[in-house]
Amino acid sequence: MTTIDPRRRMLLRCVGGLAGITALTPTALLTACKDNAAAGTKREGAGHYGLENGPFDVDIRLRARPDTVPILPGTPSEVWRYTAELRNGPADTITPVGDSYTGPLIRLRRGQRFHARLENSLPEDTTVHWHGLHVPPDVDGQPRLPIKPDEAMTVAFDVRDRAGLYWYHPHPHGPDGGRVGFQSYAGLAGPLVIEDEAERALGLPAGDQEMILVLQDRRFAGDNELTYIGSGMGTMMTRMRGFLGDRILVNGQPDSAREVATRPYRLRILNGSNSRIYKLAWSDGRPMTVLGTDGGLLAAPRQYPFVALAPAQRIDLWVDLSANDPGDELRLLSDSYQAGMMDNMMGGGMMGSGMMGGADLPAGTRVPLLALRVTRRERGKERLPERLAEDLQTPPVERDTPLRRFKLGMVMMRGFAINGRRFEGATVADHEIVPLGHTEVWEFVNDSMMPHPMHVHGLQFAVVGREQIGGRRGWSGLAAGLVDSGLHDTVLVLPGERVRVALTFADFEGLYLYHCHNMEHEDNGMMRYYRVRS
Ligand code: C2O
Ligand code: CU
Ligand code: CU
Repeated sequence: MTTIDPRRRMLLRCVGGLAGITALTPTALLTACKDNAAAGTKREGAGHYGLENGPFDVDIRLRARPDTVPILPGTPSEVWRYTAELRNGPADTITPVGDSYTGPLIRLRRGQRFHARLENSLPEDTTVHWHGLHVPPDVDGQPRLPIKPDEAMTVAFDVRDRAGLYWYHPHPHGPDGGRVGFQSYAGLAGPLVIEDEAERALGLPAGDQEMILVLQDRRFAGDNELTYIGSGMGTMMTRMRGFLGDRILVNGQPDSAREVATRPYRLRILNGSNSRIYKLAWSDGRPMTVLGTDGGLLAAPRQYPFVALAPAQRIDLWVDLSANDPGDELRLLSDSYQAGMMDNMMGGGMMGSGMMGGADLPAGTRVPLLALRVTRRERGKERLPERLAEDLQTPPVERDTPLRRFKLGMVMMRGFAINGRRFEGATVADHEIVPLGHTEVWEFVNDSMMPHPMHVHGLQFAVVGREQIGGRRGWSGLAAGLVDSGLHDTVLVLPGERVRVALTFADFEGLYLYHCHNMEHEDNGMMRYYRVRS
């Protein structure tokens, strides 16, 4: 057992814990006050939102708290993490993900009434956002409804979404900027799966043959402390580019490997990284067989040479090992690509690594993610279905469907913005008011030198157009892996691209967010509210 220097804790407590540290200060250690974690029942101070009346099919308690977990050999690392407890509902609603900080897998069924008590045992405000879910604004975990330290909020909603992999993470944004990047980085993020009958009837690989994988990059200091934004001249550049760690963790663990049999597997992957884009590929060069995306299954499986997975995106893969032999090893890796001038400049070369916040594992570096070690021969009965979802409906686009344009660019000295505007809390411009029940096409035009994974809260959209209209600014090697079929809540818009998505604002009125899911971009203002109005 390694003990943690109590003086360091004391010092941080004296300056007000982490609350006083913004995401942009020099290296922030994730040390937090254990007293806080030990605090008992939380006050209901943060209120109740959503469905008033039960009975609820599922009731959970989800707590965000500091903890210490082993990640690398040696000293355990201090993290912030979610822990959950099932108060009512099917026993498989909550299962741990690996043996680290990753939030537990929450498994829901379409049609359930869900109730959760969200407890904040952190030294700063937080929220819990259900990324990708079609839920009313007040239970969406938006920054306008924070949960203060030692308070609890209860939320309740109907599970309406298609079967798929979603996720949950914090979404606080205070006067000093967003804390999404910091809090997620500290460990607050977990996967959420929705199941339904139609999906189950397909007989896709399940149990041990279904892997839920959360990809995140992290950087560790001498004593295995997680470190976030670096100090000095690098800070500004890192803010602009987004945080990059120097090692990749899968479900909070390094050097991931799984023992597998000679049968098909289903890999459901979430990119939970702050800014890194993965170019997912197989080490033996076989194509990626895609079953689904953010919003669930495709109509039929599709093959890609590789898959570009941007922050917040999910991909559902089929991989068949029945032609392999025991002793074989198939590796999932992130293949190399060109990541623009900014990264080349920072990644060593002309500026020198470190000084400008250069990453030791620059974007676009080829790196192994997960080894599948074939250890036994087994005959699987699963066959890749020819057809998957029968219920895949994309928003109807007609000739007169309104088009709304969003220019992704820079504002001088202040970073990235959407149509020249940066986050201003719960205010919306006229341009950001959309009619309830209607379908629109939103066009994202990327006139900047960075890719922007654009995310819209509260719905799933279809990608209906992608065009190259300007220079790629040194970004190349990802385009053939952009999976635009199916439904999405996050779409990668590369430099020089114009991407159109079709979305329907169904069921709920009120405020939602849309933003870049590069967490440093989002925290630094590349985020806005939109309002659904009847
Ligand atoms: Cu992953 Cu605004 O959310
Ligand atoms: Cu979201
Ligand atoms: Cu961005």
